[in-house]
Amino acid sequence: MNVLLLGSGGREHAIAWKLSQSKKLTKLYVAPGNPGIADIAECINIAANQFYAISSFCVSQHIGMIIVGPEAPLVEGLVDFFKQTPEVKHIPIIGPNRSGAMLEGSKDFAKEFMVKYQIPTAQYKTITKYNLEEGLAFLKTLTPPYVLKADGLAAGKGVIITSDLLEASNTLTQMLEGMFGEASNKVVIEEFLDGIELSAFALFDGQNYLILPEAKDYKRIGVADTGPNTGGMGSISPVPFATEAFMQKVENRIIRKTLEGLIKENIDYCGFIFVGLMNVKGEPYVIEYNVRMGDPETESIMPRIESDLLEIFEACSKRKLNETKLQISPKTAATVMLVSGGYPGSYSTGYPIEFSESTESIVFHAGTKKDGENINTQGGRVLAVCSMGNNMADALKKTYHAIEGIKFRDMYYRTDIGFDL
Ligand code: AMP
Ligand code: GLY
Repeated sequence: MNVLLLGSGGREHAIAWKLSQSKKLTKLYVAPGNPGIADIAECINIAANQFYAISSFCVSQHIGMIIVGPEAPLVEGLVDFFKQTPEVKHIPIIGPNRSGAMLEGSKDFAKEFMVKYQIPTAQYKTITKYNLEEGLAFLKTLTPPYVLKADGLAAGKGVIITSDLLEASNTLTQMLEGMFGEASNKVVIEEFLDGIELSAFALFDGQNYLILPEAKDYKRIGVADTGPNTGGMGSISPVPFATEAFMQKVENRIIRKTLEGLIKENIDYCGFIFVGLMNVKGEPYVIEYNVRMGDPETESIMPRIESDLLEIFEACSKRKLNETKLQISPKTAATVMLVSGGYPGSYSTGYPIEFSESTESIVFHAGTKKDGENINTQGGRVLAVCSMGNNMADALKKTYHAIEGIKFRDMYYRTDIGFDL
């Protein structure tokens, strides 16, 4: 089967790496891809939001399956567009339609959904400029810190947490005045959940679910989880505190109820679901839904999947996930992100990257660009280095060893991934 994967980051490189090992694969195309992906697939110069160009490509190259990496084309209605276009409506897509993607595209929608289907989450109130007074009053009833979330997609920057009531009140006002453009026309004020975060994943086929391995993501730029939030600086899978008993609660109280809720809402959801959750004294609470895989969680999860990923996607598109079993390696995967100095603030790019000759670790490209014979840096997050080990310490040792062989100007990475586990 010819497969088209959409996206260009480390997550897509990891998915492409896994798909390229499938015995069912004839040819893998990635749009737009990156120089790392180009080693294992054919990259085509189409952006993920060019729906017409994507559909023409699918027709001309006899694409049998599309996998969507990032959320934006899903929120913008890629799946709906395909279903309404006769020449391509038969092509299965791994990724939800626009109404399913609302779970990520609107925090207010997601919160209302969770309350309706009794899925554990923090107390909240949604505020617009028309009920600002109610928002200011609600803040006063909460115990600090205060959590304010822009309703819409805000490039991962739409959550503000502060312990100061005055600052929270001012921020609420500024958000409603357009701090994040239209994304903060509505603001969700939330009770603060005190605990340790976990990323849980499943695949939905509209009727059944398949639980994927969980991972821990390290979002802050600095050691010991300090400094500003990033897209993610590293990941570990499996996660020691995600015991069988805890994951059973996640499955029963969150994953299953989410799928049941979608069915009751008549949302035919075929694709990944990523539940960002907080473990509060052993009880899982949903912080957010994403309608895609996590990055850099995927870089630690794909190497642990032993099953043929394309077979799993085929089962998903035929609504047969209930007949599917996922083989998962018991080994630990540890991923560390190499980023451009200055990230997540301003940084320079275009620096050549030196790679060591051989490493048993996997080097996924996140933000790179080919320049003649060189591969240059081209983004905040540049490379994701992943290793498998018999335990976390072993996996981390291999990853940090592999990193010693990689060099680019102003390279920065966290030296303490896994420190809290
Ligand atoms: P989000 O963009 O929703 O993932 O939020 C960004 C980060 O804010 C999360 O990864 C959490 O660390 C934190 N966060 C979000 N909501 C809450 C909450 N209700 N309580 C505590 N921390 C939160
Ligand atoms: N690593 C978090 C995310 O992908 O949103």
